[in-house]
Amino acid sequence: MEKLKQYINEKGIIINASLLKVDSFMNHQIDPVLMDEIGKEFAEHFKNHNITKIVTIESSGIAPAVFAGLHLNVPVVFARKGTSIILNNDIAQSAVYSYTKEHKYTVTIAKEYLNENDNILFIDDFLANGQSLLAIHKIVTDCNAKIAGAGIVIEKSFQAGVAHAEELGIEVYSLAKIKKLYANKIEFE
Ligand code: G4P
Repeated sequence: MEKLKQYINEKGIIINASLLKVDSFMNHQIDPVLMDEIGKEFAEHFKNHNITKIVTIESSGIAPAVFAGLHLNVPVVFARKGTSIILNNDIAQSAVYSYTKEHKYTVTIAKEYLNENDNILFIDDFLANGQSLLAIHKIVTDCNAKIAGAGIVIEKSFQAGVAHAEELGIEVYSLAKIKKLYANKIEFE
């Protein structure tokens, strides 16, 4: 998606060889016009996949997921980080290790929102090491639902996430694929 690549080039800040900061339009401040276009692009790609629901993880996956849900006309479920006393006992959980933040956390979805009739589109802001995708795959499987595909805003193709998706047989559709990060340049695929 050319407009997204332009945003990344113009507004992204390279932190180091593996981290890109995109706080000005996605991870802190959100550009709703761009997110709407992103949602439309995911919807166009997955429109014939019989998607019944979108699943993401809070917090930065929610914006692209909601716009994709709007354009596909399906509900959006976000996995919560940690548990909440409001959630009852009928929950599916998985542990996520964040390489970026170097800590482990649990993600939770109430089972009432996913069932065997669901064909899930996973949406996330980044595909890096694939830990979020692995965790959501476990939760979706525990709920007897299936994953029809993954829509990723920014894929860092040089990290392990793509290989994990392949191992799980999940089709990944990424709007911007970063091959390599240099100190002053982003190389797209
Ligand atoms: P994963 O996203 O493939 O699971 O890989 P990883 O464990 O490395 O990612 C952990 C967190 O770091 C995720 O956000 C992910 O979106 C984010 N992340 C990964 N690579 C980058 C990057 O290059 N730049 C930025 N800005 N974020 C990156 P999270 O912890 O779930 O945070 P949030 O969704 O609450 O913002």
